[in-house]
Amino acid sequence: MSERRLMTIPGPTIFDPSVLRSLSIGHLSHTSKEFVKIFSEVLAKLRKLLYVDDEYKVVVLAGSGTLAMETAISNLIGKDDNVLVVSNGVFGDRMRDLLERYPVNIDIIRVKEPGETVPIRMIREKLDEKDYSMITVTHVDTSTAVRQNIAEIGELVRDRETLLIVDGVCSVGGEEIKMDDWSLDVVLTGSQKALGVPTGLAVLWFSEKAQRRLMETGSLYAPYYMDLNKWIKVMDSYENLKPAYFATPSVNLIVGLHRSLELMEEEGFEKRFKRHRVISHAFREGVKAMGLEILPRSEEIAASTVTAIYLPRNIDLNSFRGEMLKRNVMVAGGLYPNIKSKYFRVGHMGPINSNDIVAVTCAIERSLKILGYNLKLGVGVSKVQEILYKNNF
Ligand SMILES: Cc1ncc(COP(=O)(O)O)c(C=O)c1O
Repeated sequence: MSERRLMTIPGPTIFDPSVLRSLSIGHLSHTSKEFVKIFSEVLAKLRKLLYVDDEYKVVVLAGSGTLAMETAISNLIGKDDNVLVVSNGVFGDRMRDLLERYPVNIDIIRVKEPGETVPIRMIREKLDEKDYSMITVTHVDTSTAVRQNIAEIGELVRDRETLLIVDGVCSVGGEEIKMDDWSLDVVLTGSQKALGVPTGLAVLWFSEKAQRRLMETGSLYAPYYMDLNKWIKVMDSYENLKPAYFATPSVNLIVGLHRSLELMEEEGFEKRFKRHRVISHAFREGVKAMGLEILPRSEEIAASTVTAIYLPRNIDLNSFRGEMLKRNVMVAGGLYPNIKSKYFRVGHMGPINSNDIVAVTCAIERSLKILGYNLKLGVGVSKVQEILYKNNF
């Protein structure tokens, strides 16, 4: 079967061919001069991506986004801590599931309906009621494609002891994140989404406030491999161009991340975030012009990295995905419980460009029409074109 397929699932995403080529670098030891330099540059570039200086620590581990979530939690909790989970969907709930394995008291504020975000007022009220050691929040919940305003939550914790832990698995590299300005204490992600590198790297950033907490907890509840007090020393050493060992780093993926970060710098971070904003906005307007409804309740909370779209009634998800595949486009099904089969998701992050989104929109039009949806071909794509054109894309 042809390998020329548009992978527009929300991760793993499309990869730049030069990133994929960089992975095939031959034997490279994790202690070699060449790798130490690459790793050191990766850590510096990752700071720039979140607009922070070297008072912030960055850790890159072999693992996926879930490992990054558990690493953050397990290292930063203390016995009987109060933890507040802000959940907009499946990945917010995952934080609660994870926390349930640790000796903490969990409060959760959950959205009532999929496609909403938790109002800031509810978070403020909770913080005024109780002392929380940390709040966890998902920046973009991939299950419903909503984006929570994390800067607003940051303002609430700025002058408190509470740490703000942000799951940025579906946002880092695609959405603007100003970690310092917004008072975020931990941001975490995996490599396979907007960072544009195949699955297998877990990346975490820590503020000074989070580093102080790490010293206090001594990583008491962290499993051996996830002990950040050990890993931070290893990262410091690499940054100072000295190899160090705790467990073998994922050498080839780190080389891939280096290439991907180079591409981001060439494009410019601001331009990159704008590209994600314009492409996602054009796509949302395109699907709306086809008469379809998206899950996010407003444009303000619609993510730039992923879009979740209800299927027209009477159109079956598997048949739709099958028709899309026939047209060489892979989209994902729904994830939110009870409505999983009623919607589909399109990822548009990393090296996605305007041609890709035009092609995806066209394939959606033809697939829906083949399945009996009453639609005038071109109605969606002409809207997409109009918005891309207005933005000089
Ligand atoms: C927002 C969010 N958090 C966490 C995860 C878990 O990441 P992983 O599947 O890499 O373990 C995902 C995966 O899709 C995600 O989208």
